[in-house]
Amino acid sequence: MVLAALIPFLFTYTTRHTDTLEVTHVRNLNCGAGDNTVTNGYVHLQNGHMFFSLFEGKNEAKDNGLVIQFEGGPGATAFDYPFIGAGPCQLTPDGEPSLSGLSPSPHPWTDHANLLVVDYPIGTGWSYNTSEQNPASTSDKAAEEFDDFLQVILKQWRQFQSQPLIMSTLSYGGTTGAHIAATVLKRNNAVKDQLFPRRVIKQFDQLIFGNPFADAMSEIYTQWDVLCDSEPKAYNQTVCNNMRNNLTICLDKLRYLDEVESTQELRKDAIQHCVQSPELRFEAPAYNRYHRSRPKCWPPNTCFWWMDKLTEMMNSQETRDWLGITQDVERWWYAGPAMFRFINTADVLQSAYKLLRPVLESGTRLLVHSGMEDTMVMPSGTASWMRRLPNPQLKAFRSSETRQVSNELMTGTVINPGSDYSLISVKEAGHIVIETHPAVLQAMVKEAVKGENYDPSR
Ligand SMILES: *[C@@H]1O[C@H](CO)[C@@H](O)[C@H](O)[C@H]1NC(C)=O
Ligand SMILES: *[C@@H]1O[C@H](CO)[C@@H](O)[C@H](O)[C@H]1NC(C)=O
Ligand SMILES: *[C@@H]1O[C@H](CO)[C@@H](O)[C@H](O)[C@H]1NC(C)=O
Repeated sequence: MVLAALIPFLFTYTTRHTDTLEVTHVRNLNCGAGDNTVTNGYVHLQNGHMFFSLFEGKNEAKDNGLVIQFEGGPGATAFDYPFIGAGPCQLTPDGEPSLSGLSPSPHPWTDHANLLVVDYPIGTGWSYNTSEQNPASTSDKAAEEFDDFLQVILKQWRQFQSQPLIMSTLSYGGTTGAHIAATVLKRNNAVKDQLFPRRVIKQFDQLIFGNPFADAMSEIYTQWDVLCDSEPKAYNQTVCNNMRNNLTICLDKLRYLDEVESTQELRKDAIQHCVQSPELRFEAPAYNRYHRSRPKCWPPNTCFWWMDKLTEMMNSQETRDWLGITQDVERWWYAGPAMFRFINTADVLQSAYKLLRPVLESGTRLLVHSGMEDTMVMPSGTASWMRRLPNPQLKAFRSSETRQVSNELMTGTVINPGSDYSLISVKEAGHIVIETHPAVLQAMVKEAVKGENYDPSR
């Protein structure tokens, strides 16, 4: 009798209790410079299944801290960084595009920290949802899914609850990352007076944002400045005139979205005046917009030498088996279905940087780096929102000069060096700084787990 009464209860409990972790495989990655433990798996959430790989820090580095890396897009996979320099083994232009063809990375993050890469949001890379599941299509809702994911991770690997926690993102990760940091803080604050909260209360110690897209408005006007009003010019006069003619209408619409109301319909209406078509972005420019001093690239998968190699490696049976990928994912794409979901909601037209105010006020550090040759996310647009984001360091940041730096790792500039709110611009780097300057990124990770923003002027 009692058992019969319990069965429906147990059933609802197990079907509803979806925040579970499944380790698919613990593997050893050895490309000729020692053993590296990699734990692969899914976190099963109500709305979908998030895939991750945890690259364990080398020797004592496994006690130093956790760096969580995800990408932009939105919908771009996180599995580029671990194989182009952040992980212990990397692809090379001459090497085979397979796990056994990898070479030791010269400056892996795993020398200084644990590296967790996650395909986020759901529908990115190896992360997926079934047809009954309805994952978020906007960065505010997706941040709640990330928080659920993070809770599962922190409960599984309890040591990370007391180690420094770093979020590292690229590009659109400036928008999704700002939402995540704000959501984690908000949910922590909601239970902070509870005696026995069910959640792990853990804040990010540092955010490392690479070429972050975090404010549509700054991006859009600096786009015109950089692409059409400075040398070398990206476009001919016809395209530039169109851009200029759209600029005022676009900014008017963005201000309404920002100051009055933001609905999907209004955002979509603004898109045609504010956002370039893929052809204009990739095919029409005179150069590679991810790196201005390189020739133009079309189709977009030719913009980075490693893009096709990574795609081939990821989709090989060897890699699928190694990671333990489910049959539910047919194919790995650099940009997954999540991208189309987010495009449909015009999520891009927002000013997510503002969400960082309470995060920075609560003590999280922000280190931003920009490759100066990038024209996808304009370094000048990044400097613009950083100069008006209220936070304890804003005065110091605004009065800090742009200091020239040249050390053994990089040449470039830094604003407000060594503080908790700092902007580093790297000369000769493009959209993906790790591609050309892996040692600088490694130095950022090394200092981050020690509790500091990397200072290139020291
Ligand atoms: C994921 O969810 C969407 C709805 O948001 C649905 O249209 C799609 O079919 C689902 N994906 C898969 C792979 O079934
Ligand atoms: C701007 O205007 C032109 C012509 O009026 C149009 O073709 C173009 O797509 C618009 N959008 C952008 C972002 O330039
Ligand atoms: C300017 O560039 C656009 C996009 O590549 C092209 O369609 C157009 O024909 C060009 N116009 C002139 C006058 O060269």
